Formats: sequence, C-alpha cells, structure tokens
Amino acid sequence: MSRPDISVNICGVRLKNPIIAASGTYGFGEEYTDLYPLEKLGGISCKGTTLLPKDGNIPPRIAETPSGILNSVGLQNPGVEHFINEDLPRLKRQDIAVIANIAGASIEDYEKTAARLDETDVDMIELNISCPNVKQGGATWGVTCAGAASVTKAVRNATKKPIMVKLTPNVTDITEIAKAVEAEGADAVSLINTLLGMRIDIHTRRPILHNNVGGLSGPAVFPVAVRMVWQVHNAVKIPVIGMGGIASAEDAVEMMLAGASAVQIGTAIFTDPYVPVKAAEGIEKYLSDNGIEKIGDIVGQVKPW
Ligand SMILES: Cc1cc2nc3c(=O)[nH]c(=O)nc-3n(C[C@H](O)[C@H](O)[C@H](O)COP(=O)(O)O)c2cc1C
Repeated sequence: MSRPDISVNICGVRLKNPIIAASGTYGFGEEYTDLYPLEKLGGISCKGTTLLPKDGNIPPRIAETPSGILNSVGLQNPGVEHFINEDLPRLKRQDIAVIANIAGASIEDYEKTAARLDETDVDMIELNISCPNVKQGGATWGVTCAGAASVTKAVRNATKKPIMVKLTPNVTDITEIAKAVEAEGADAVSLINTLLGMRIDIHTRRPILHNNVGGLSGPAVFPVAVRMVWQVHNAVKIPVIGMGGIASAEDAVEMMLAGASAVQIGTAIFTDPYVPVKAAEGIEKYLSDNGIEKIGDIVGQVKPW
C-alpha cells in the first residue's frame, strides 16, 4: 500500500495533517521554530486575540493538578493589530494553516476584530466564546444558546472567512449550543475549552490561583472531551475539531473515531513540545498498520454498543 493520505479539508482549508496546536498553549509559534519547522503541523490556532492588547490576570495564573493544569491566564495578548502586522506575515511564510483565535467582552469587540481579520490572509477564525460578556454581568457567552448564537451571528456578518466556534464544556447540554451556532452560520465547531475548577492551599487557605478559579486542561479531561466530541458529532452536520487532553497519536486517533475531523493539542506540549509532531507521524503509522488509505475513513467510526 502507498503512504496513507493524512491530509484533511476543514471548511475549504487544507491541512497536510490533522494536528493543530491549541490556542494559548503555543503562542504565535515563534518559540517552537528552534525545535522543528512549524510546517510539521497541519495548523496553528494562535493565542486568543482581542481588539486591544490585554495584560491578563494577576499571577499566580497556573496551578498543577493530577494529570493536568488549572490556568487563569486571562487572555494576555498583544492585540489584533500586532497579530496582523508582526505574527501573521511570519506564519504565512510557512506551509501551515493559520487560525486566528478571537475573544471579546462585547459583541462589538468580536465584530471589529473579525472585520479586521477579514482584510488579511488568515485562513480561519476560531471564536472563543468562553470569555465573559461584560454587559451581561460577566456571564460567559457560550453557556447559553442565545449568547453563543449572538456572537456567531455578529461574526458571520463581519467576515467571509471560515468560522470555527469553540465551545465551552461548562454547560448542561453541549449539543444544544453546537446546534445554535450551526444555525447562525458556523462552518465548524471546536471543543472542548477548559473545565472550570479550583484548588486551595490548605496552609494559607487561599485559592492557588489569584483569580480563585481557573480552567482545567490536560490528560485529566480527555474522557470528558471524547464524550462531548462524540455527542456533538452526532448532533450537527458541520465538522467537529476535537481537543482536550490529547497527548499521543493514539489519543488523536481515539478523538477522531469519536467524530473529530481534526484535533488540537495543547497542555501536552508543555511537558513535551514534540507531541504534535509525534502525533502526526503516529497517525500515519496507525493508518498504514491497519491498511487504511485515508484519515477521513476513521472519523466518527466508533462502534457504539
Ligand atoms: C495556558 C492555557 C491558555 C489557554 N488560552 C486559550 C485561549 O487564549 N483561547 C482559547 O480558545 N483557548 C485557550 N486555552 C484552551 C486550550 O486551547 C484547549 O481548549 C484546552 O486547554 C484543552 O486542550 P488541552 O487539554 O490539549 O490543553 C488555553 C489553555 C491553556 C492551558
């Protein structure tokens, strides 16, 4: 058998392999270029970007947990103009799909950021709807169908770029949110963002994070993510990009069997920056070993009892 085809097409964007670096865990790629060419990855989802630069939350912003981390970075980023002028040109010189991940405190923030990116050659926009809606008292956009739909609709009207809406797992039924954003024109959904958690120092009785609470990620969340990807894959027609705790090629294959058309890898990169490269190579080997010609043939192919 010739080499299996591990390329994927997500809403018209070709990725040479299904591995994408997850937003917030890979910066804008620069720190990793000393280790390997970024082109070894199918894509990069850049650090969450807002209309104006943001300093993020007060430290401590990271707490270790069994098999994962809690973070409350608070969207520290240099702002969309810096991204467009400094990071995007460097990334676009390489053969890698560049995904801008955007966040906002108001609908206008999302609209303006998306409209600005529409004028660039970024390949796709990922909407982070796990941040607070300031006008609604800080409620997270993505925890209600109405909130998730309103952001998606606004961004859909602001850009012709493919839009991937990133869902929060901190909801009662993630399939309802997925259907709501699909109805407003999302081209894909990505999931999961982090699970809300908390840790306390028993000696000081202070929460370890200055923000008190933070988002849990890493291998600890993997089974939750697989379950949600499977549920959402069965609820919508648009592609699902799976993430949450992936740390190996085997995890990536499992996520794709659950229904992911491509995957993102985040926290695992902190312990081994080569995980995305090894995962891409391992997926190809899995297909060869099992006589599968193309990666698309495993997507959603779990056989439920
Ligand atoms: C330190 C850190 C920063 C993150 N920043 C962002 C962000 O800016 N935007 C976003 O959509 N997700 C962000 N995430 C969430 C990840 O992209 C991903 O959804 C989550 O961590 C689950 O995947 P993982 O277990 O592979 O890390 C961040 C995660 C971590 C650990």
